[in-house]
Amino acid sequence: MQMDEVARRGLVLLGCGKMGSAMLAGWLDGGLPKTSVTVLDPKPSDWLQNQGIRLNEDLPEDPAIVLVAVKPQMMGDALPSMQAKGNGTTLFVSVAAGTPISRFEDALGEKTPIVRAMPNTPSAIGRGITAIIGNAHATAEQVDLAEELLKAVGQVVRLESEDQMDGVTAVSGSGPAYVFHLIETMAKAGEEQGLSSELALRLASATVAGAGALADGSNEHPGKLRENVTSPNGTTQAALDVLMNETDGFPVLLSRALKAAADRSRELANG
Ligand SMILES: NC(=O)c1ccc[n+]([C@@H]2O[C@H](COP(=O)([O-])OP(=O)(O)OC[C@H]3O[C@@H](n4cnc5c(N)ncnc54)[C@H](OP(=O)(O)O)[C@@H]3O)[C@@H](O)[C@H]2O)c1
Repeated sequence: MQMDEVARRGLVLLGCGKMGSAMLAGWLDGGLPKTSVTVLDPKPSDWLQNQGIRLNEDLPEDPAIVLVAVKPQMMGDALPSMQAKGNGTTLFVSVAAGTPISRFEDALGEKTPIVRAMPNTPSAIGRGITAIIGNAHATAEQVDLAEELLKAVGQVVRLESEDQMDGVTAVSGSGPAYVFHLIETMAKAGEEQGLSSELALRLASATVAGAGALADGSNEHPGKLRENVTSPNGTTQAALDVLMNETDGFPVLLSRALKAAADRSRELANG
């Protein structure tokens, strides 16, 4: 099943907030016909109202795909309206954090093809990374289709089992916030070294963005990139001696932080 089938049978987007809008913009840019898209959202944004898609109209008879992008806590309200499309040939793709596949099978019917996806916020600028996993009823073609659709907002990786979602959530799902905090704290520490807050923030932000782009575009392991810029007994080495300390440095701190995120993800999934 490819995008022409989506164009023919239709795509339904349930919930069009930040994540839904980012994906919709990518699909329309990629040439998906506006008339193939039906969006359901109680409070459509001005942007959405001007897209020329079908907004809060009747659903197509047998849409190729229903993409669920409502907040996990709104799922109880949103899913029952989709029940008629379950147990059939419509693929459901959910980007809701912490909502297990079983929750969708319970609400839509256990034969429903479902792909669970975990995107992250850089999706808003097409630089996201999304991990996906299908249930037993999602065909290989349907998982390929979900991948193609999610590529509209960045890279896509496939998981082998749903329990990997907790680790994914801890690394890439919640990760952007850790990086924002890194920028905040680097800037604050720069102020302590006599820089103005504005200058320190600009330096920290551009450094994280630039180093991230370097690491992302390089074939070298980040450990090697780090070694390449660390001269013995130099300034970088002095800072890394602190950051890489085995008792209170990054390794132990990030290990604790990611474990907390993954534990919380497991708790949420268990209701
Ligand atoms: N933002 C991210 O980077 C990110 C990352 C990973 C996963 N996700 C997941 O993506 C999902 C959406 O997140 P978001 O940040 O895009 O949230 P959001 O901006 O709040 O978008 C949710 C949208 O769904 C609408 N909605 C609520 N109830 C509905 C219903 N019954 N039927 C149809 N639409 C309904 C909301 O309308 P109202 O405003 O009127 O409530 C809102 O426009 C969440 O499940 C989240 O876990 C988001």
